[in-house]
Amino acid sequence: MPVILAIESSCDETSASVCADGNILSNIIANQTIHEAYGGVVPELASRVHQQNIVPAVQQALLNAKVNKNDIDAVAFTRGPGLLGSLLVGVSFAKAFALAKNIPLIEVNHMQAHVLAHFIGDHNPAFPFLCLTVSGGHTQIVLVKDYFDMEIIGQTLDDAAGEAMDKTSKVLGLPYPGGPLIDKYARSGNPDAYKFPEPQIPGFDFSFSGLKTSILYFIRDNVAANPNFIEENINDICASVEKRIATILLNKLRKAAGQYGITDVALAGGVSANTGLRQGLQQLGMDLGWRTFIPKMEYCTDNAAMIAIAGYHKFLKGEFIGQDVAPLARMPF
Ligand code: KG4
Ligand code: ZN
Repeated sequence: MPVILAIESSCDETSASVCADGNILSNIIANQTIHEAYGGVVPELASRVHQQNIVPAVQQALLNAKVNKNDIDAVAFTRGPGLLGSLLVGVSFAKAFALAKNIPLIEVNHMQAHVLAHFIGDHNPAFPFLCLTVSGGHTQIVLVKDYFDMEIIGQTLDDAAGEAMDKTSKVLGLPYPGGPLIDKYARSGNPDAYKFPEPQIPGFDFSFSGLKTSILYFIRDNVAANPNFIEENINDICASVEKRIATILLNKLRKAAGQYGITDVALAGGVSANTGLRQGLQQLGMDLGWRTFIPKMEYCTDNAAMIAIAGYHKFLKGEFIGQDVAPLARMPF
């Protein structure tokens, strides 16, 4: 019954989790609010805050799990992809902990971990399934054949879906990260108030840069005509933007599921916290007879519990990594 300590520090959340035999006992997430003032994550500041938060996060994770640090059997950590300075803090901590306790290290790919978050708890998809992974940096349709046998069958050619959310919110004068605020305003808006274009990209790939530009021009032109346009219409703007982003994502997902003959379909990554996208997937599932899987909110955005569950399945396979491991800003599957 392995007890695993997991560390996540790829972007701006410092997170630590303890899992025993695949059951998550704790999941501590320290958010960094310092970036709000800058309208985006400042990598240098992120590393410094990780450095401050990592030991308290681990101590709290052990405390909540009622696990003594001497009872940890292995340390799992995010090796990449992510911000190098942020990753360095988590990787260095994991290495030092494993060295001090003389226990094995397990490297985890952050994007695979978002997918594997679906194996926390008992409601798990069956292989092969499709996972739409949508975050601030990635938009991928992943064909998941086994725990660590995943193929990206579609991805964004430019901006990620989360970036489209965040950039729209910036134009609207909302603070970073804007995705949750777009979600909040959209709940009181009319999703059909404004029509934004759907890009015509072949296959299962995505593009969000054209949409971003059309949103930008739309807001600029309307503000020129009416300086109060944003405040008078923020709910409708957010609802319309959210609907367009969700339909772009779901239309490709429907196409991919049809072509691969797959009926277990999952959502992962920070943007899977979005209400419109979650409801859209559920509706599509009901219409097409899919089983749909949407993570609990705390496992949508970056968290160490998903690193712990990925680490647990690597532990079972005996896949460990040496102390000479270094973080990777880009890390293929
Ligand atoms: O996976 P994540 O926490 O970090 C990355 O690895 O990027 O994803 C963060 C992204 C941000 O773009 C944020 O605006 C978006 O997820 N996000 C949302 C919501 N919650 C987070 N977007 C739309 N609606 C939400 N409720
Ligand atoms: Zn992420």
